[in-house]
Amino acid sequence: MDVITLASRKGGAGKSTLTAQLAAHAHTLSRRVLIIDADPQGSLSLWHARRAGGLPRLVTPERGIERAIAFAMVEGTDVVFIDTAPTMWVVVQEAIRAATLVVIPARPGFFDLAAVQETVKTARERNKPYAVALNACPVKRDDKEAPLVAQSRADLEARQIPVWSGQISQRAGFQSTLAAGASASEIGPQTAAGHEIAGLWSAIERSLAAINAAQFTPDRPANEAGAVMGERAA
Ligand SMILES: Nc1ncnc2c1ncn2[C@@H]1O[C@H](COP(=O)(O)OP(=O)(O)OP(=O)(O)O)[C@@H](O)[C@H]1O
Ligand SMILES: [Mg+2]
Repeated sequence: MDVITLASRKGGAGKSTLTAQLAAHAHTLSRRVLIIDADPQGSLSLWHARRAGGLPRLVTPERGIERAIAFAMVEGTDVVFIDTAPTMWVVVQEAIRAATLVVIPARPGFFDLAAVQETVKTARERNKPYAVALNACPVKRDDKEAPLVAQSRADLEARQIPVWSGQISQRAGFQSTLAAGASASEIGPQTAAGHEIAGLWSAIERSLAAINAAQFTPDRPANEAGAVMGERAA
């Protein structure tokens, strides 16, 4: 079972949006998914309440993250997504400790990129693989990313922070699909929004495979695997 924790100290970076979009996408691929809504704001619970059928399942961690994960394991879950609050509270620390991979959404731009540092530090201290996913980016023109996105990527790379080589653009579809209790890949798998989420999920899956393989090669630090998301993503 893999645990993907979406964390960032910065409010509004896209943690809840990407958790819902990715979890619903993985669900459409027949993965057995559990979402843990670890943010008292309850954004994910709000979305989930609008979904017909109640899948993927969602729980809130009243009795702690570890317990929720233990149950998920017993139930035969393939992948757990944890949405966290924009804090460094104990529950966020627990969610990072439980992670197979920490995904740090960040909007391109100076303030947003500076704010990833705290989450990066926590992940590094716990030897957890992590990678930044640039979110709400200006849409590419002629398949070329905007200068702001390129600069942001260069800034992260200079700080040796793994960054997914793709981008999630600023698109109304990411909001409107969630408001309808759905997701981009369910409503429009062939839309640009649907393709972007599928691209991020593929990169995450490659990363998870590398992380799990690295566990059998003790001389390779687990954190190296996080870079795979940056290196090989489409
Ligand atoms: N790629 C995107 N395109 C369009 N709107 C987006 C995108 N990502 C996020 N948003 C919007 O930005 C706002 C903040 O996003 P979201 O709630 O996912 O961030 P968050 O990191 O979970 O915030 P918080 O820290 O408050 O929990 C929301 O209104 C969301 O709809
Ligand atoms: Mg949120």
